[in-house]
Amino acid sequence: MSKDKDAAKVAEVAAEQVGFGIDIGGSGIKGAPVHLRTGELLTKKFRLPTPAESSPDAVGAVLADVVAHFELPSIAHIGVTFPGIIKNGVSHSAANVDKRWIDTDVAAVTRRWTGHTAYVANDADAAGYAEVAYGAAKGKKGTVLVITLGTGIGSAMIHDGHLIPNFELGHLEIDGYDAETRAASSVKEEEGLSYEQWAVRLQRYFSHVEFLFSPDLFVVGGGVSKDHEKFLPLLDLKTPIVPAKLRNKAGIVGAAALAAENA
Ligand code: BGC
Repeated sequence: MSKDKDAAKVAEVAAEQVGFGIDIGGSGIKGAPVHLRTGELLTKKFRLPTPAESSPDAVGAVLADVVAHFELPSIAHIGVTFPGIIKNGVSHSAANVDKRWIDTDVAAVTRRWTGHTAYVANDADAAGYAEVAYGAAKGKKGTVLVITLGTGIGSAMIHDGHLIPNFELGHLEIDGYDAETRAASSVKEEEGLSYEQWAVRLQRYFSHVEFLFSPDLFVVGGGVSKDHEKFLPLLDLKTPIVPAKLRNKAGIVGAAALAAENA
């Protein structure tokens, strides 16, 4: 769709209901305007590859290009996801990204490169928040644990609709291993595991998390969740476990919603 058509579609929605989210991932950086009432993307998302050397400045330049693709001057405050621990806009870990991000103010980098103030959230927290606000766990009371299976394992803990940030359950030590190095979907690919073989590792992971937190619902996200029929039925848990609904737009939607809430 052309920029003009995109802008026209966005203009149809009341300004206070339009947010903007950007998802910084290991392979791509993608953004889109979001309808804050429905959680729908208002236009197709725009994606650029994450630079091979993903330093703060290299990523900042891509953030600027993603924002510039959308002419949305009315949205001052944007949401950004980052795959690490985030406190007050600052990244405190970088398990699967350039180590120069540790102790970097991601919100300040975003402001410098895009001109917008930003609310920054951990990627799984944003995705989890979106699933509770608009997706597979919409309106769910009690404890919802959203686990994203991708390059690493991300997790979001939401209790009665309130996000408790930075759970980092991908780094639980289980059987002497950092859990994500055994059970992330990237490990399934790298080791050429079948779904059945991978499910054995997921079973160990999810039953341990279940024992520790007694959630009321597990939601499984990440790209591989589109193939959920191949592995979720193989898991034997007491807790209901369902695939994420928003799939690869959950980060964008959650970032926009969190930004609007924390403006
Ligand atoms: C990081 C988390 C992140 C997850 C998914 C983990 O390695 O520590 O912060 O949410 O990967 O990207």
